Amino acid sequence: MVLAVQWVADDAPCLRLIDQRLLPAQEEYIDVRTVDVLIDAIRTLAVRGAPALGATGALGVVVAMNEAARNGWSEDRLQAEVDRVRDARPTAVNLAWGVDQVRPLMSGGVDEVLASALRLVAEDEAANRELSRLGADWILARTGRSSVRVVTHCNTGALATTAWGTAYGIIHELQDRGALELVYADETRPLLQGSRLTSWELTQDGIPHVVECDGAAASTILRGLVDVAIIGADRITANGDTANKVGSVALALACRRAGIPFVVAAPFSTVDLDTATGDEIVIEERSGDEVLVVAGHRVAPATARGFNPAFDVTPHDLIDAVVTERGIVEPAAAPAARLLDTIAD
Ligand code: MRU
Repeated sequence: MVLAVQWVADDAPCLRLIDQRLLPAQEEYIDVRTVDVLIDAIRTLAVRGAPALGATGALGVVVAMNEAARNGWSEDRLQAEVDRVRDARPTAVNLAWGVDQVRPLMSGGVDEVLASALRLVAEDEAANRELSRLGADWILARTGRSSVRVVTHCNTGALATTAWGTAYGIIHELQDRGALELVYADETRPLLQGSRLTSWELTQDGIPHVVECDGAAASTILRGLVDVAIIGADRITANGDTANKVGSVALALACRRAGIPFVVAAPFSTVDLDTATGDEIVIEERSGDEVLVVAGHRVAPATARGFNPAFDVTPHDLIDAVVTERGIVEPAAAPAARLLDTIAD
């Protein structure tokens, strides 16, 4: 299994990221030793996916502390650099969460922060494996099928996490149980996390799949070609509203019409109990050029302006299950303003 985020502890320690901008054509790594390089990697999606961003945030504090020690930064400068890491992308709560988990330990020294960050990395994999077992159980029980056809959106595998994956982890678990027929992987415009990354991981794992245009997904669902939609999440609010890659809400609407379950899978670190509803989630808006320029060529008229929200919010009443390692809630069946509190401990 590929590791998206690793810590390399040698004479010149670094955060090693697989460069997801280049996959699947090239498998290259970026060794991060400065905050500037880290922020560029986060903003340009060399590292991406909510749980991977959480690990990157925590290990990013170590990068900042090491850079501060090399350059003699003041405490104020160091804290400002840590804030820059925390705020590099706004929608996935995990980035800020990862920073906030280790930040209180900074006064204890870099070794303490590193040990804590590495613990978070290990816990993320354990969470993914547990939620995958729970999610597969729930899906097989709900659909009543021994083998399912799945549609998924964006990339939620090892590349998007520290290992194994979330929605992808459930798909992998179903495959391991002999309970998976076929995956429809949405290509995920404009940055193609589905066709470049999910299809690459599915291929490596020997999981049968097809890649479809995002625009095909609703029709695939309405034609009865899939039994369940499984997506990841960037932020789940207290009532279950869920931000994920733009296009997710279209799947949810189609699933409701077709009467098949729409499942959100995420570690509990993606749950933001401080945010009441999806209305309060900040949706990252990226450069319109990502929409207007395809493979280096501008395809729209020179004067056209792009509109490029990177995420959307699926309202809780369209979500049949939120699967976490702490348990499952069913927002559509049992709505409650603070539903996620019920599995918080
Ligand atoms: O812009 P990205 O590629 O970081 O968006 C990623 C997603 O939307 C994923 O579905 C989400 O982070 C869950 S990853 C397990």
